[in-house]
Amino acid sequence: MNMKHWLSIVLLISSLNCNLCDKRLERLVSDPDENRTPCEMIESRNFKCDTHWAKTADGYIIAIHRVINPILKAAKKPTIRPVVVQHGLIGSTLHWVIGRNLPYLLANYGYDVWMPNSRGNQFSQNHTFLDPEKDSDFWKFSFDEMIIYDSPAVIDYILRKTGYKKLDWIGVSQGAMIMFGLLAEKPEYSAKINLFYGLAPAVFLGNMASQLKSIAKVPGLLKIATLIKAEFAIPRSVLDPVVDQFCGELGGRNICQSVFEFLIGKNPNALNSSRLLVYIKQGINPTSFWNLVHYGSSAATGKFAKFDYGWLENLARYGSINPPEYKLSAINLKNIVIMSSDNDILVSPKDVQILKKAVKVPIIEYRVKDKNFTHGDFCIASNVYEMVNVHIVRHLRQSS
Ligand SMILES: *[C@@H]1O[C@H](CO)[C@@H](O)[C@H](O)[C@H]1NC(C)=O
Ligand SMILES: *[C@@H]1O[C@H](CO)[C@@H](O)[C@H](O)[C@H]1NC(C)=O
Ligand SMILES: *[C@@H]1O[C@H](CO)[C@@H](O)[C@H](O)[C@H]1NC(C)=O
Repeated sequence: MNMKHWLSIVLLISSLNCNLCDKRLERLVSDPDENRTPCEMIESRNFKCDTHWAKTADGYIIAIHRVINPILKAAKKPTIRPVVVQHGLIGSTLHWVIGRNLPYLLANYGYDVWMPNSRGNQFSQNHTFLDPEKDSDFWKFSFDEMIIYDSPAVIDYILRKTGYKKLDWIGVSQGAMIMFGLLAEKPEYSAKINLFYGLAPAVFLGNMASQLKSIAKVPGLLKIATLIKAEFAIPRSVLDPVVDQFCGELGGRNICQSVFEFLIGKNPNALNSSRLLVYIKQGINPTSFWNLVHYGSSAATGKFAKFDYGWLENLARYGSINPPEYKLSAINLKNIVIMSSDNDILVSPKDVQILKKAVKVPIIEYRVKDKNFTHGDFCIASNVYEMVNVHIVRHLRQSS
């Protein structure tokens, strides 16, 4: 055989290899949900989707996705009432719609489902006078501003749009925490809430099991991080190639799954690991550095307090050296349910009891039956219907 033959054999073998390789990649990384927008996700499940914008008192523009039941709409049937479904930290509407989760169930039952996006995530980087690209002032916020600006803007917008006097608020993690904060800061808002359902409420974090707490306790770290007035984000253009390269391969997938479980908890029986790439790519949504710093303080101090600007600015803003705590005892809403789980690595059962004690009105408390259920499971567990959602629907129907 001459040179030419050898060359064609080499080419043939490498093309065979390449075919195998492409097929393997295709099988592991081609879930269309990896790249869908919230509305594309919702429409792919045969619901209709609308996007609304609510303006906050400080000029941020909050995007709200609305899930519409096409059968009710076609039959011109009225919906039951508006329900807000609010995502958690590093979240967006995507956290709710990547699975077969709550928004779809509620829309099937006839509720009018609204999913707001906290300021600074990729859908709420819109402002009346600040440019998130150019003005670092845009990023000077933490969950304090979600509490006093975002949630009132969202509630008032939805009530105005729908003509209802009250809505229900279902929040997970940060989405529950900001409602506890709002009801403490502006107790008059309890007149606008029918039922508040807090899932894995990330209010007190002093007893979190996750090692993230030790990071927050590194001396001086939070002070230094406070100097960063910027976005916290991992751009998809950076994340995707890395995730495709490492997590798509079977060996790497285990490592990726371990990192994932380190962050949001481990419950292998309820994790659909063939959807891991969807969860990682769509799961990490932007927020501000300051928001993360604020969580760090919550974990380090064990308090549910306002943002710590350093003693000098604290004095000017709050009239005290340390940031004041939220007055949870001011909450007067009678219809609060919280649901937590034993294996939650961020919101420990102990911290849930601290929350329950701090709030003076009675709270109905549920513990998820599955002992392995953890933080991220409220959005993505394959048993989330039986463990969580069925209870939510029952409570909603009872409290009209
Ligand atoms: C910004 O908000 C306006 C509504 O005030 C909306 O029309 C526009 O599409 C939004 N832009 C982005 C990029 O979200
Ligand atoms: C896991 O995800 C795949 C799609 O990637 C789906 O076909 C399968 O039904 C899911 N399994 C469960 C238990 O939900
Ligand atoms: C919980 O995890 C343990 C150990 O991984 C497993 O044996 C058990 O079946 C799990 N229980 C449920 C309800 O998934």
